[in-house]
Amino acid sequence: MMIEARGLVRTFKTKRGPVQAVQGVDLDVADGEIVGFLGPNGAGKTTTMRMLATLIQPTAGIATVAGCDLAKDPVGVRRGIGYVPQSGSTLPEAIAGDEVVDHARLYGVPKAKATAEGQRLFEELDLPGLWRRQCKTLSGGQRRRLDIVMGLIHDPKLIFLDEPTTGLDPQARANLWEHIRGLRDRGATIFLTTHYLDEADALCDRILVIDHGKIVAAGTPENLKQQVSGDAVRLSIADTSQAPAVMKIVRELEGAVEVETEDAVVGFRIPRGGSVLPGLLRSIDAQGIELHGVEVHRPTLDDVFLTMTGRSLRDEDATGTEEKKESAA
Ligand SMILES: Nc1ncnc2c1ncn2[C@@H]1O[C@H](COP(=O)(O)OP(=O)(O)OP(=O)(O)O)[C@@H](O)[C@H]1O
Ligand SMILES: [Mg+2]
Repeated sequence: MMIEARGLVRTFKTKRGPVQAVQGVDLDVADGEIVGFLGPNGAGKTTTMRMLATLIQPTAGIATVAGCDLAKDPVGVRRGIGYVPQSGSTLPEAIAGDEVVDHARLYGVPKAKATAEGQRLFEELDLPGLWRRQCKTLSGGQRRRLDIVMGLIHDPKLIFLDEPTTGLDPQARANLWEHIRGLRDRGATIFLTTHYLDEADALCDRILVIDHGKIVAAGTPENLKQQVSGDAVRLSIADTSQAPAVMKIVRELEGAVEVETEDAVVGFRIPRGGSVLPGLLRSIDAQGIELHGVEVHRPTLDDVFLTMTGRSLRDEDATGTEEKKESAA
C-alpha cells in the first residue's frame, strides 16, 4: 500500500469554537493507482491531504505514506512524495525555471539534471518559452501547470495533487490527464482532489467521496454508479393536467422508485430503463396521453453523491444549499 490511514482526525481551534474538519478517515491507496478524492467545498479534502503530506499534524489517527510512518518518520514521507497545493507555491517575483530547479535541489537533485528534467516537463505540460519568465507574468492556467511541474520535478513515487485542473482550459485539462496517466504508467501513484465528476470518472481508477469530514462512498467509478438504483427516466407530457395519470402508470412499473413530478415532467428511476420504455410508452399512448419527449440517463457520479448525501455535488457550495433554497423561495 502506498497510503494506509486509519482514524485520521483533525480539529482546528477557532475563535468560534472547534472545527472538526476531518472526523475519522480510513483510506487505502495501492501502488500505481490514480485515486480521486471528491467532495464539496469544506468537506475536508485539503485537510486530509495536508495531514498525509506531513504539512499539518493529525489530531488523532495513524498512517503510513510512501512506506514511512507519518508520525515517526515525516522526513521519510516527504522524500517519497510530491505535493501540489490547491493555492500554488511559487513566489510572484521569482523566475519560473529557477523556482523549479531550486525546488528539485531541496530534494538533492543535481542542478544540471533538474534543469534538463524541468525543461522537459515544461515541454510536456505545454509551457514552451516560459522558463525564464517571472512567475507573476504567467497566466492563471500557466501558473497552475508550473505548480504541477514543481510537484513532479524530483520524480516522486507518490504525488498529491490538490485540484490540479481548476482554472485550466479544456485542452490543458485533457493534456494534464494524459500526463497523469503517463506518470501512473511509469509506476507512480497519484492521489488527487477534484470537484469535477467527469474528471474523476475519466481519470481515476478509484474514487473516495468525502462529506463533512467522513468518507461516504468508495469504489471504482463503475461500481459506485451501480450502487445507484437504476437509470433516470424523464417523461415530458404535452398537457400538464395529465401528469397524475402518467404518475399512476409509472408507479405500477416493477422496480420504479423516486417517482416525482415537476410541472409537465414525470421523473423516476428504474433498472434497465431502456428496456422498460417501449411497454411504458404503449401504456401511456393507450390512455390517449401525448408526450413531448423522453430521456433516459445512466446513473452519473453526481447521482451517487446525491444518493449518499441527499445533496448534489453540482452545487458549488453544497454546505450552503439549504439556506440558498430558502432565500430563493
Ligand atoms: N487552518 C484552519 N483553521 C480553521 N478551520 C480550518 C482550517 N483549515 C481548514 N479549516 C476548515 O476545515 C474544513 C475543511 O476544510 P478543507 O480545506 O479541508 O476542505 P476542502 O474539502 O479542501 O474544500 P474545498 O473544496 O473548498 O477546497 C472547512 O470547514 C474549513 O473552513
Ligand atoms: Mg481544498
